[in-house]
Amino acid sequence: MIIIKKDVISSTNDFIKENSNLIENYTTVIAKYQTKGKGRLTRVWQSNDGENILMSIAVKEFKERKDLHLLSLVAGVAVHKFLSKYLSNLKIKWPNDILVDSKKICGILLEGQINNQSQLVIIGIGININQTYFSSEIDDITTSLKKETNLNYNVDELIEEFLKVLIKEIDTFLNNDNMFITYIRQHLFGINEVISYVRNDIECDGEIIDISTDGRLVVKQKEEILYFNSGEIKIKR
Ligand code: BTN
Repeated sequence: MIIIKKDVISSTNDFIKENSNLIENYTTVIAKYQTKGKGRLTRVWQSNDGENILMSIAVKEFKERKDLHLLSLVAGVAVHKFLSKYLSNLKIKWPNDILVDSKKICGILLEGQINNQSQLVIIGIGININQTYFSSEIDDITTSLKKETNLNYNVDELIEEFLKVLIKEIDTFLNNDNMFITYIRQHLFGINEVISYVRNDIECDGEIIDISTDGRLVVKQKEEILYFNSGEIKIKR
């Protein structure tokens, strides 16, 4: 497995995209700092130099699986398992965030490039490790390992540890094992609770009742059972 380490990069996801013909299956790009770190929905991903995990992994060999969008859930499970060694009270907020007591510690950005020339899924992962101050708009909804434990961590060692967990989870998924869904059910933020969410620009309330075997969020809204794909609703905290 190839690991590319950079001090400064625009975005680890973009680096893989721009070099897709040179990239092998599971090539991993790690950066200390990103000048154009990307979040979901065109947001920016903020991260101080050298303080956090910023990485992307390329998945190029899919075996028989077609439901590759589920790789973002699989990566979330890997992050949850890895962080569980250091923290309790971790939840998976469907579809992509890992929370500690409702504060975000990790974000995942999945991007695909599937056409005649190339078959590539990029999983970008940012995990907050040693950063304790975030910009004022996000400071009260964001956390890090250090913020939670008052300890400093060796980011390189943690990346090595995390990568083992991540690759094991991806391998298991690509071998047609869906146990990650069971794991999400056990650690799902808001399960059996009434939550507010925005759907087609309208705010609604509903109870999260499950994750379906194909990774959709199952919500009971009044007497109706609804199944949502990622991107169809935005859960409010
Ligand atoms: C989100 O929660 O909005 C997703 C954040 C994803 C951030 C990571 S950091 C490494 C990789 N490179 C990027 O530009 N973004 C992802």
